[in-house]
Amino acid sequence: MSLLRGVFQRRNIGSSLLKVSIKASAGSTVAQKFSTTPAKTGGNIKYFKIYRWDPEQKQKPYISTYPVDMNECGPMVLDALLKIKNEMDPTLTFRRSCREGICGSCAMNIDGGNTLACLCYIDQGPEPTKIYPLPHMYVVKDLVTDLSNFYDQYKSIEPWLQTKVEGSHDLEHGEFLQSKEDRKKLDGMYECILCACCSTSCPSYWWNADKYLGPAVLMQAYRWIEDSRDEKTKERLEALDDTYKLYRCHTIMNCTKTCPKGLNPGKAVAGIKKKIAEGHMGTH
Ligand code: SF4
Ligand code: SF4
Ligand code: FES
Repeated sequence: MSLLRGVFQRRNIGSSLLKVSIKASAGSTVAQKFSTTPAKTGGNIKYFKIYRWDPEQKQKPYISTYPVDMNECGPMVLDALLKIKNEMDPTLTFRRSCREGICGSCAMNIDGGNTLACLCYIDQGPEPTKIYPLPHMYVVKDLVTDLSNFYDQYKSIEPWLQTKVEGSHDLEHGEFLQSKEDRKKLDGMYECILCACCSTSCPSYWWNADKYLGPAVLMQAYRWIEDSRDEKTKERLEALDDTYKLYRCHTIMNCTKTCPKGLNPGKAVAGIKKKIAEGHMGTH
């Protein structure tokens, strides 16, 4: 399925945010706009077509096209975005912080796939690189999406270590002790940077984001379920045993395919379902 065309719908949710619905589409309603900055002749020019929308302008979303001389640009898509913002168009809005795949803030849809702009190499082919916000999210401005629902869902799984009785762990050394084998169970989950690339690539999350927790949050729930030091395993599994929160996952694995950190949230979702099916409530 091509994710390159955008169909955009206005929604009223209090503030004037716009929901991005990226679908295969024969035609685009997006107007074309071109940067006033001319391409330098003789350079190695690559074009970037970028989704633009400003709630303060009475204008529909449109695409801006920017020519970037690759001889004067770093190798990553984030390098190009920064160059465009610094040298051509300061109004272009996007999130970024660490520029090394740690903060998760530069998540966006690049050439049809959700990924981190700072970890995504600029395609060297002749086709323009197309950049959209994360799909099916409300847009705050340009490439910045509203992640409030995503963060609320993360909060709902109570992502912290919980014990039933205070002092039930041996804190002699000021630590919650854990065997190397049990610690190993957290590998592949603790590395998640909550960028939301996986959840916003999941069709079930597109249609039920208000009720389905999505792969990123479910993997974090599993991270605490699998933690040998946590004593709320039963309660955590019971809270997830819900038609919408968990069972909207149909194991299509878009989430795992897109994760820019190489993690496997689809497997974690399957792990939760297995634990519930096997009646593991309360044991590890
Ligand atoms: S699992 Fe991967 S894609 Fe999903 S939020 Fe974590 S780092 Fe991002
Ligand atoms: S495996 Fe589940 S969570 Fe991952 S994309 Fe498919 S439906 Fe969504
Ligand atoms: S800027 Fe931090 S992950 Fe890309």
